[in-house]
Amino acid sequence: MPYAELTASQRISSLACSSHTGRERFGWRFEIHATMLGAQYKTKSKEVPMYPELQGQVAVVTGAASGLGYGIAKRYLDEGMNVVINYHSDKRREHAEELAARYNEKADAGKLRAVAAQADVTQEDEIDKLRHAALEVFGRLDVWVNNAGLEARHPSHKLPKEAWDKTIAVNLTGVFLGSRAALAHFVEHDVRGRIINLSSVHEVIPWPTFSDYATTKSGIMMYTKSIALEYARLGIRVNCIAPGAIETPINAEKFDDPELRGRTENMIPMHRIGKVTDVANAAAWLVSGQSRYVTGHSLFVDGGMSLYPSFERGDG
Ligand code: BGC
Repeated sequence: MPYAELTASQRISSLACSSHTGRERFGWRFEIHATMLGAQYKTKSKEVPMYPELQGQVAVVTGAASGLGYGIAKRYLDEGMNVVINYHSDKRREHAEELAARYNEKADAGKLRAVAAQADVTQEDEIDKLRHAALEVFGRLDVWVNNAGLEARHPSHKLPKEAWDKTIAVNLTGVFLGSRAALAHFVEHDVRGRIINLSSVHEVIPWPTFSDYATTKSGIMMYTKSIALEYARLGIRVNCIAPGAIETPINAEKFDDPELRGRTENMIPMHRIGKVTDVANAAAWLVSGQSRYVTGHSLFVDGGMSLYPSFERGDG
């Protein structure tokens, strides 16, 4: 049976998804305040989409059932992109499926905007499942966001080898496998694709008791630059987003404690913990045409945390 005649569930029987009728409507509303004489322009965007060229493009976002990945996937959906929402553990399935369902409900009849797809990013065959999901359900692949990651505190002289291996596997090997899958598709099909790797301020800031984590984030930065250089001539762009302290479930315990929160805020020149939307905004810009000349870059979204805040007053 031709692909177009298959029902949604037949198309992706192995994936969790849902399809609904209804018309997607995007509200375009930009308020532009211009002081013509002073040549000062203040542009205030109130709603996405911001980047119309992204509509209909397809993204895979790993670790997208919560935190930064969820925020990025949602933002891409709001931009009119179609998204493979990856999650790993069964605990997160519901979140991923709910996000997909919310956008599928508003999609044109028989069309899908999003699918939730379970995969362990450390496994080659599971990464392949994500690529196939994008191609089989949406017929194209333009963007891959390697977001899945983990962190756990251990004094370095007691860090168990299993914990080290796990951090390397998820944070670094996962980024390699995801990037490789995306690159292979982009090269083979002549796609000017974009990859975003989520590193951290700890790609440059050492982090005692999280030495395995900081090592992977620094590694992600160099891997990103290396492949950015390797594929720039094909128009493929690869960048890092390096978030600082952001309000996400992974940090909830820390930031719910007023003392710990205050200590972190004091390490941020802008003096506030970041929001998921701060990172999602960067993720939208970095795959849009507005950043078309940017590759191999680490975009710090950190309120200045990586600027050696202890030097703020010019001492030293
Ligand atoms: C970590 C956060 C931490 C932040 C600043 C991020 O990479 O995920 O837990 O608060 O770096 O240290």
